[in-house]
Amino acid sequence: MLADLSGKTALVTGGASGLGRGICHVLAECGADVAVADMNLEGARKVVGEVSEHGRRARAFQVDVTKEASVRKMVDEVLAAFGKIDILVNSAGVIGASGFEETTTSREEDWDITYQVNVKGTVLALEAVAEHMKARRYGKIVNIASHGGRQGGPGGGAYGASKAAVIHLTQSFAMDLAPYNINVNSICPGAIWTPMFEQIAQRQKRNDPTLKDLTPRQIFERLIEQRCPLKREQTPEDMGKMAAFLASEDATNITGQAINVNGGARMN
Ligand SMILES: NC(=O)c1ccc[n+]([C@@H]2O[C@H](COP(=O)([O-])OP(=O)(O)OC[C@H]3O[C@@H](n4cnc5c(N)ncnc54)[C@H](O)[C@@H]3O)[C@@H](O)[C@H]2O)c1
Repeated sequence: MLADLSGKTALVTGGASGLGRGICHVLAECGADVAVADMNLEGARKVVGEVSEHGRRARAFQVDVTKEASVRKMVDEVLAAFGKIDILVNSAGVIGASGFEETTTSREEDWDITYQVNVKGTVLALEAVAEHMKARRYGKIVNIASHGGRQGGPGGGAYGASKAAVIHLTQSFAMDLAPYNINVNSICPGAIWTPMFEQIAQRQKRNDPTLKDLTPRQIFERLIEQRCPLKREQTPEDMGKMAAFLASEDATNITGQAINVNGGARMN
């Protein structure tokens, strides 16, 4: 077994899709019960059905991470259902506002939504769960950042800047929560094939005539070939394995870190 999470309860935001879904699977495989929280309740319920096949308890919860009342209600519901939260993974995220695929730069609405979901949403969930973890003097928090948060690039920068903020706030909370035996780390994925990356590939296709005959999936594969020294794609389950490690006792002395899981695409 990768990491022993037997008897632990994990709450995963953004658990209905992409990385969050893969993380739910791996945490359950490692023995954790899983609360799958997402704005998309139907999607969360589907993941609960899949996760239950690993023999763990799982339940779906609806949440809008940008709204404090919604987050607090969700945390209360998870505590009522499971009795405790040992692990929080913040995976809920957005690349931009509606119409992102048709843009070349970040609009006001892209700055607003990326900061609301990726930054404020992470903080609201983290703070609500940390209150409970502090009382128990135990907790493992994993924020999904991005290697795009380590280095600026073309395209407007709202998403990358929001992920730089996630890396930064991970360090701040790691300092504040260390006295309570709570570890806070972030994972920096590269490019992972999910509905979010499909949006990115569609934007690239629209803006680059040389990509016009390629499908979004082919654009993704080309990117991996060109940018990834290992020349193979990383999966949501790879992010789950890192999250499971960070949530395990094997990582008890790791906190405040941002760990690339990107096949070497960026090495900073
Ligand atoms: N896919 C990639 O290449 C990649 C790379 C680096 C980082 N990430 C990060 O990984 C995380 C997951 O991305 P993904 O690729 O799986 O995307 P995705 O679109 O497949 O999943 C995102 C999930 O977040 C949920 N969500 C969005 N806004 C929400 C809100 N306000 N409240 C609650 N849930 C909300 C969505 O319903 C969805 O289920 C994000 O934080 C993303 O920035 C993704």
